[in-house]
Amino acid sequence: MFKVGYFGLEPGICGVREEMFCHEEKATCAFYDGLLMAHRIALIGGDGIGPEVTAEAVKVVRATGVAIDTTDFDLGGMRYLRDGEILSDDVLNQLRGFDAILLGAVGTPDVPPGIIERGLLLKMRFDLDLYVNQRPFVGTAPGHVTPHDFIVIRENTEGPYVGEGGVLRRGTPYEIATQGSVNTRHGVERCIRYAFELAAKRERKHVTLVHKTNVLTFAGDLWQRAFNEVAAQFPQVGTAYNHVDAACIYFVEDPHRYDVIVTDNLFGDILTDLGGAVSGGIGLASSANLNPARTGPSMFEPSHGSAPDIVGTGKANPTAAILSAALMLDFLNESAAGDRIRAACGTAPTGSTVDIGNAIAAIVAGK
Ligand code: IPM
Ligand code: MN
Repeated sequence: MFKVGYFGLEPGICGVREEMFCHEEKATCAFYDGLLMAHRIALIGGDGIGPEVTAEAVKVVRATGVAIDTTDFDLGGMRYLRDGEILSDDVLNQLRGFDAILLGAVGTPDVPPGIIERGLLLKMRFDLDLYVNQRPFVGTAPGHVTPHDFIVIRENTEGPYVGEGGVLRRGTPYEIATQGSVNTRHGVERCIRYAFELAAKRERKHVTLVHKTNVLTFAGDLWQRAFNEVAAQFPQVGTAYNHVDAACIYFVEDPHRYDVIVTDNLFGDILTDLGGAVSGGIGLASSANLNPARTGPSMFEPSHGSAPDIVGTGKANPTAAILSAALMLDFLNESAAGDRIRAACGTAPTGSTVDIGNAIAAIVAGK
């Protein structure tokens, strides 16, 4: 624990406090040994609308007064087409030196599926051990009158995403393709534990496990047992279980039943698109890829893709990217600034990409 002091702040920007204690490593603490340290952020604008929405997110973060020092990384499908670079070990090692990574979107129609997804996004998630994918959903679902407020905790380093399996006799009538799902006790338990720790801090204190234990009996059994054992350590947190197909109905018909959901990588991927759809649209859906052990930087990205069809038109809603940056600030122990961003996004400004970014930045800055 570092004893750190605040000074050199402009009144009204960060408030004035005598001192604070930072429980985090130097790498995630803005104020260290009495010096104002900017959070070092790696920016990967990426492809399509990624750079446009990331620029607005950075603008809004700066408007909070939180000091950030950004470094651009030119990565994504366009970079790959130019010189073949996807994410070399050298670049990955450079990324390890940052406090956080803010990513816009990657992927371009000219690159076959899987290359950038596996080589860049999943490589970061796996190699930086970003084992929690946290996706909050606040909104009023179609046909409802009161807002829901729940968070999906998606396991982010295992399941069908690891690429276990292969293909034999490709292109013949005898072709065989297998794609396994890897579930380790360690990986499942740490994700479930994160969900319970999060729920314990929330008002409703409730975690729902979503899986398909009636069919995926091997993986489902491991998940259910790990869930039950962790749940026993959190007697103050209520629990439920839903099959993933039933959860799809509840997301639409009864989203209020949820507080925190914990689920595997692929179920979480699919469910969170549905979560976005019932919470105001994917243009608002934020996402944090977290390394809660803080052995390296965490990565923050909107859930949406690169939308190449609207690039440069000003139609992209930067709110998901801005809310992802708010999640980044939370993780960097700047949650007061994160709260201000969420409140400003709640006013739902309209207009072009830049109009929306400017409106949110102005509210955040108190102008
Ligand atoms: C997401 C995306 C990614 C995923 C893709 C682009 C690899 O859909 O972040 O939800 O499947 O995780
Ligand atoms: Mn997805």
